[in-house]
Amino acid sequence: MENNTRRNFLQKTMMASASIPILNLAFMESLKAGIAEHKDKSAKEIAADETFWYQIQKAYTVSPHFTNLENGYFSLAADEVLEAQLKNIRMINEQPSWYMRKRQWEDRAAIKERLANLAGVSPEEIALLRNTTEALNIVIQGIDMQAGDEAIVSDQDYGSMLEAFDMRSKRFGIVVKKVNIPLHPKSDEEIVALFESAITPKTKVIHVTHLINLSGQILPVKKIADMAHSKGIEVISDSAHAFGQLNFKIPELDCDYMGTSLHKWLGCPLGLGMLYVKKEKIKGLWPLMGDVNMPDDDIRKLEHIGTHPCSADLAIANAIKFHEMIGADRKAARLFYLKNYWTEKAADIPNVIINTPKEKSRSCAIANVGIEGISPAELAEILYKRYKIFTVAIDHTAIKGVRVTPHLYTTTSELDNFVKALEEISESM
Ligand SMILES: Cc1ncc(COP(=O)(O)O)c(C=O)c1O
Repeated sequence: MENNTRRNFLQKTMMASASIPILNLAFMESLKAGIAEHKDKSAKEIAADETFWYQIQKAYTVSPHFTNLENGYFSLAADEVLEAQLKNIRMINEQPSWYMRKRQWEDRAAIKERLANLAGVSPEEIALLRNTTEALNIVIQGIDMQAGDEAIVSDQDYGSMLEAFDMRSKRFGIVVKKVNIPLHPKSDEEIVALFESAITPKTKVIHVTHLINLSGQILPVKKIADMAHSKGIEVISDSAHAFGQLNFKIPELDCDYMGTSLHKWLGCPLGLGMLYVKKEKIKGLWPLMGDVNMPDDDIRKLEHIGTHPCSADLAIANAIKFHEMIGADRKAARLFYLKNYWTEKAADIPNVIINTPKEKSRSCAIANVGIEGISPAELAEILYKRYKIFTVAIDHTAIKGVRVTPHLYTTTSELDNFVKALEEISESM
């Protein structure tokens, strides 16, 4: 009986390991060696080196049924990360309550340490959550504001954040003021001045979208924070798209609060987010979920989310490892290169409008393109139906076009096909 049990266990272990890591290990080793060969080249040089990126493209399993140029919603995890997650699901499923009671918290602390290290902050300043919506709702609903106090937002902030402010306004009487962000600002100072012009003695907080999802425009968070702090105003950064896409550490932003979704650009499994709260601001922030057991200045009071699939949390470590193996600077440089690769060609096509700034400080992977005379929804539909190219229509008062978001596994020939499609659509008008 005992032998049978042992045999079953061994069989199970062999089955599990045969289906997961061995092939992958060999692939990852060759990938690492391939990357190491390029160690003397700058990120900018590597950005245009298709042989380098060909190796990275093989680390992802991508649908063969269409060209995915909509990686902004969330981006697929590399095979390595997905396999780690599947392995974790099995491991936790085999020892469910035991894992939750005996191992969960230790593992979570280790992951938070790894994440905090990547972000350049203390683990005591980050909460591991489900996404940006949850992270920033905690802040927007939880910061100390009285009826009549003012918050400044922008017309291009993400809908859920605007709704969170509107709800706080409806429920508690705060006043929400909105500034309109220009599509092609002349300088950072123009943006800073815009936010500054909306400040009154009642302003308590400014909410800034670090990388605008509609157009791909990057806003100068640090300069806005410097201006705001000089007037005693707090700053929230919605870095949903910035973290893992741009190469920065949180302290460089000098914001008070920052929310992000790890399933967007860090390549983590779906359903993971992070909230950063500057150490001295934790005490004054109310949790969204009731928690009176944690000390007021303990960030874990914000993580009271109940039982959740922590198999995904564990794979954050794999995603970070993969991200660091490529290099945050190389990743950002390649994404910027890919965006320029197609926008520079598309800009010459008659009737095409690029709704994204060109400069490196103002854009990275994401750009928005429109064709005069075609609605965003029609353009997205033609691209998908006729060319099997998947994008997303953006029909906003300030921005009309389709959002195009390549990823590291996107090839330049896919982008050539996309530009050709734009040419044909424009000609057919
Ligand atoms: C700028 C911005 N903020 C917040 C979010 C919300 O992210 P999530 O749905 O992961 O909470 C998004 C989603 O696309 C976004 O683009």
